[in-house]
Amino acid sequence: MDKITVIGAGNVGATCANVLAHKNLSKEVIIVDIKPGVAEGKALDIWQTSSINNFDTRVIGVTDDYERTKGSGIVIITSGIPRGPGMSRDDLIKTNAGIVKEVTRKAVKASPEAIIIVVSNPLDVMTYTAQLTSGKSNQKVFGMAGILDTGRYNAFIADALNVSPNDVRSILLGGHGDTMVPLPRLTTVGGIPLNKLLDDETSEAIVERTRKGGGEIVKLLGTSAWYAPGAAAALMAEAIVDDQNKTFPVSIRLDGEYGQKDVYLGVPVVLGRNGIEKVIEIDLNQDEMSQLNNSAKSVKSVMQVLDDMNLF
Ligand code: NAI
Ligand code: 2OP
Repeated sequence: MDKITVIGAGNVGATCANVLAHKNLSKEVIIVDIKPGVAEGKALDIWQTSSINNFDTRVIGVTDDYERTKGSGIVIITSGIPRGPGMSRDDLIKTNAGIVKEVTRKAVKASPEAIIIVVSNPLDVMTYTAQLTSGKSNQKVFGMAGILDTGRYNAFIADALNVSPNDVRSILLGGHGDTMVPLPRLTTVGGIPLNKLLDDETSEAIVERTRKGGGEIVKLLGTSAWYAPGAAAALMAEAIVDDQNKTFPVSIRLDGEYGQKDVYLGVPVVLGRNGIEKVIEIDLNQDEMSQLNNSAKSVKSVMQVLDDMNLF
C-alpha cells in the first residue's frame, strides 16, 4: 500500500504510527494533528528509528494538512480527548463527535477510497459518527476495541495459568464499555477449553477485570492506555494490507446479525483486502444473548446522545 494516514498524534496515534512503521506495511505513514509541530516532531522521531529498527516506511507528520494524506488506502482516526479519572468513555461524546466528524470529512475528501478504522471514544458511537459523515458501507468503516479488550482478557488468563498469552484464543462481543461480553465458554488455551483449566470464580473475576480494564489503566496513569490500543489498530491495518482474512472482534453497524439492527457493536469479523470480508455469527446461549442485548441497549442510549446533538 502506498499510504496509511493516522489522525491524531497523541498517545494512541503516535504509538499506532510507530507500530505501522515497524511492520513496513506501506511506503508512507502520514500522521495528522491539529496542534502545530506535534505530528511533525513525533513523525521525525519515529523516522529516525528506521535504521535502528530496520524499516523503510517513511513517516511524515503534518498539521491539519489533508492534501498530504491524498490517496491513503487506510485512515485510522485517533483524534479526540482521552478519558481522565472519574470519566467514562461515554462522557467524551460532546467533544469527540465534532472532532471525528471534522477529520472524517477532510480525510475522505482527500482519500475517497480509504477504509476507515475508528479508535476515538466512545468507540462504537464514534464509528457511527464516521459512518454518517463518510457515507461508506459497513465493509469500509468500523471500530477498534475488541482486539484491545481480548488482548487484556488474554493477558489476565495467561497470568492466572502461567501460560503464554499467545496460546490463549478468545472472542468478545458488544460495546466498548463496562457492558462488553467476553465469552469464556468459547475461550481456549492451546486448544483446550478454558473451563477445563480455570475454576468459574477465577474465570468470572477475569471477565470483570477485563470489563474494567480501561478504567484500571486510567486510575494508574491519569489518562487512558496507548500501547495496546495503538498496536491493536495497527494489527487491523496489517490484516487489510496483507489480505490476511484474519478473524477479529470489530465494532460495526449490525444489520440484523445477532438479532440486532442499526446499532454498533463488536462482533467477530474476517478482515481482509476489502475491509470486513464477512461477519461471523455464532450461536449464543441465553445468558450471553441477554448480556449482548444489554450492551446493545447501552450503546443505543449513547447513539441517541449523538442524534440529539443534531450534527447530521
Ligand atoms: P491524546 O490526547 O494523547 O491524543 C489525541 C490527539 O488528538 C491530540 O494530539 C490532539 O491534538 C489531537 N486532535 C484533537 N483534535 C484534532 C483534530 N481536529 N484534528 C487532528 N488532531 C486532533 O489522546 P489518546 O490517548 O491518544 O487517545 C485518543 C482517543 O482514543 C481518545 O478518544 C481515547 O479515548 C481513545 N481511545 C480508544 C481506545 C479504544 O479501544 N478504542 C483505547 C484508548 C484510547
Ligand atoms: C481503553 O479501554 C479508554 O477505551 C480506552 O483503554
